[in-house]
Formats: sequence, structure tokens, C-alpha cells
Amino acid sequence: MGEHILVLDAGTTSTRAMTFAPDGTVEAVAQKDLTQHYPKPGWVEHDAAEIWDKTLACAREVVRGDAGRIAAIGITNQRETVVAWDRTSGEPLTRAIVWQDRRTAEFCAGMKEYGHEAEVQKRTGLLLDPYFSGTKMRWLLDHDEGVRAAAAQGTLAFGTVESWLVFKLSGGAHLSDASNASRTLLLALDGAQFDEDMCELFGVPRATLPEVVDTHGRLAECDADLLGAAIPICGLAGDQQSATIGQGCLAFGETKATYGTGAFVLTNKGRDIPHSDHRLLGTVLYQENGTRTYAIEGACFVAGSLVQYLRDQLGLIGNAAETEELARSIEDSGEVVIVPALAGLGAPHWLPDARGVISGLSFASGRAQIARAALEAMAHQTHDLASAFDADGAPWSRLRIDGGMSANDWMAQDLADILDLPVERPDFIETTALGAAILAAVGCGMHDTLESAARAMRGKASVFEPDMGIEVREARLARYAKALAAV
Ligand code: G3P
Repeated sequence: MGEHILVLDAGTTSTRAMTFAPDGTVEAVAQKDLTQHYPKPGWVEHDAAEIWDKTLACAREVVRGDAGRIAAIGITNQRETVVAWDRTSGEPLTRAIVWQDRRTAEFCAGMKEYGHEAEVQKRTGLLLDPYFSGTKMRWLLDHDEGVRAAAAQGTLAFGTVESWLVFKLSGGAHLSDASNASRTLLLALDGAQFDEDMCELFGVPRATLPEVVDTHGRLAECDADLLGAAIPICGLAGDQQSATIGQGCLAFGETKATYGTGAFVLTNKGRDIPHSDHRLLGTVLYQENGTRTYAIEGACFVAGSLVQYLRDQLGLIGNAAETEELARSIEDSGEVVIVPALAGLGAPHWLPDARGVISGLSFASGRAQIARAALEAMAHQTHDLASAFDADGAPWSRLRIDGGMSANDWMAQDLADILDLPVERPDFIETTALGAAILAAVGCGMHDTLESAARAMRGKASVFEPDMGIEVREARLARYAKALAAV
């Protein structure tokens, strides 16, 4: 048997394949950008065929015709995004609706008015927001003729992105792992399979949904023709759960924050079903032999995508790294504050119709002030989450960070300063892919436990200690609170 793990990391803006050696080092990486479709304001779509084609191309590039080296495949993915395909043809019926898409905001508001939110939260851990998959599936059934026709013929398959990739890789298995399934509104946190009552409430036929499986184990097998061998698929997890595992947050209370397209904070809550009174989410962290470990999560929709917006839409910067130089070039943001509600506000506010704000502009506000305010927004949003976690009885004692944006030292220090906590950043910040490698390594029997795999595969980390005066911190947070009230 091979010794390497092939990880497929199908994210929001790009899809990648990586091969990991048994000590967690990366041997090869291939990456391809994904086309983002914005057909209307608030709508975001992907072409599922493009996701598959590019993921397979990346996988072939890193496997290099030598599939014998690969012991197992681990898959991690952008969560909540809905793919609808025809089981017979194996082709997508329509574009995938991406997690950022807000088209079901009105439907969610209607369900809230009917008083469904408390029950939905109790059963699924989630809230009535267009973010989650269930209302996107319902929208497709209501609005897409092809989807409706396939449903009538019994050939419609719904799934999140890992489910789509497993279907294509295996030539027909229709599976979803419990961590991804727990983002749909259709899985009860304590139910093994998708929940009849929730399916009925959201109008999604259960027969269109995948079988819910563990996050690790021998889950399916890749068609030998695709990569040159029938490699077992042994790890599946949503990217945020995967990053939590990649950060080694395997003990109760351990917390990570990933700054990718959005910012997602998860705290390990152990075996008991989590409940939030402060608008955080309860979610499955992983599932082993049918037993679940849960997390409590705070999701902010905009993080790295704000820097992308400064670069691509406003043309204020040439590349993301420039924000660090600009932030360091001035003493403060000159009272400029950004509330990055470009895709509505997620936790703990949940305002799907909120829109972004830049406040405090004066004639002295230039590129540097705006770039610095964009980075400061990360610490402000994270501080909002920290207060909600605290109020829910899940305080953080330190925060492990990762994701592309965490490479910015200035931002990492600012987080430590505003949270008043040590912030730990691994030297290897691709923890999402590492988490999938750890899951697959345990799933294929290379390691006995997630803990031993994490010990063997995780590298060193550096720590940013808080170093900001209380008055400065409080003034910053007060300005942010004022700007937030204006969205
Ligand atoms: O819930 C959405 C999340 O899975 C997207 O992650 O890494 O593409 O920002 P990312």
C-alpha cells in the first residue's frame, strides 16, 4: 500500500489537489481558479462540471501517473453550496448555488415569521438564513424546470460539493459526510440520516438526498480509470471542520479561526449536542463509527473577499500582501472603519440584507487608511464572535488561526491585541487540507486515532501575544460598534 494521502480541497474561489507524506509535509500541489457567476445582486453560482473537471485535472497533476504511492483520498470542500444533478446522466442539471448566495432571504424571513426558527435551531443547530443548503434546494425545486422534471422522474440527486465529487470519483455513490450534512438544515444534530420532518418543512424530498456517513473510514472507492488505481476515499469533511482538525483542536474548548473567503471560528464542544443562546451555530465536527463530536461555530461571510474587493473592484491595491505594508505605514486608520457586510452579516447578527459600510472618511483618508481599516475589520468581527462565545459559556483561552489571510503578520498581531488573547499560527497554514489528510490517514488505518495522526502530521506554530493598551482597544471597538449600528 502507498504511503501518501491525496487531498482534494474544493474551495470557493479555487480547487486544489495536494499530496501529503506521512509526516504531514506536502509533496505536490496543483490549483485552479473557479469561475464565479454573479447573475444578479446577491446571487452567486458555480458550474459544478467545472468544479469536477478542474478538481480531477489537479488530482491527475499531483498523482503524476503513480497512483501506487497513494494510500487514500481525503476530500474537503466549501460547505452549503448545493449541486443538483441527474443520477442517470451523471451531469449537473443547473448551476450550483453557492453558500454566499442570498436569493432565499425572503423565504427564510417568511419561515421566521411563521415561528419556525426555534424548532429548526433546536433540531439542526442552525438558523433560518439563506446561507444554508436546505432553502437553496427548495428554490431549485420551485424555479428550475430541469430540477423539477428530474425530481418527478426520480433521477434528481442533491448534494453538497463533497457529495458531488464522491459521485463523480466513484461512478455513482451518493454520500455526504455528517459534517457537511449538518450544514443543510435537513439533518437533526442527533439523527443518523436526513430528518423526515425537516425535509417536509423545507419541501425537499428525502429521496433526493445522499446517505449520511462518517467523516473517516473506508467510505467509497475511486474509479480505477480516473487516477490509475481504485484508491479508497477515506476522509470527507467540510472545510471549516477539516481546518479545526488540521489545527489539532481535538479537545473540548479548543478553538480555531480560519480567514479564507469568509472567517469561520469553531470551538470543539465534545460529545454533547451544543446549543447557542447567542446566535452561534451547532454543527458536527466529525463522526467516527456513528458517534459524533460537535462544535459551536461563528461564521462571518466576508474576510479575504474584502481584500479581493479592494484589489479587483476598487483597484486600491495591486495584491493582498500590500495591505500589510499599507497598514504598517500609518499609526492608525484615522478613524476609518469598515463593516464588511458585502454579503449581508452572518454570526452573531444574521442580517441577510445588511450591506457594507466605510465610515469615518475625511480628506486625510487614503489607500493606507482604507487598507488598514479592512484588516482591522477582521479583528472587530472576531471580537463580536468572541463575545457571543463567551456569553454562550464557551470562552476562548487562545485562538489558533489559519487560512490565506492569516499569513499577514500585522493582522495576526491585531487579532491578539483586540481579542486580548494569545493567537497561535502554524508555520503551515494550509490546515484545511491537512485536516482532510489527517482524516484520511485515520480512515485508511495509517493512524489509529485523530490525536495520533495530528501529533505525527502537524508542524510548529508561532504565537502572537497581546500588546495593546486598553484605551486604544476600547476606542477601536466603540467606533466599530457605532459603524455596525449604521448597517
Ligand atoms: O461555509 C462556507 C465555507 O465552507 C467556505 O469556506 O474557505 O471557501 O471561505 P472558504
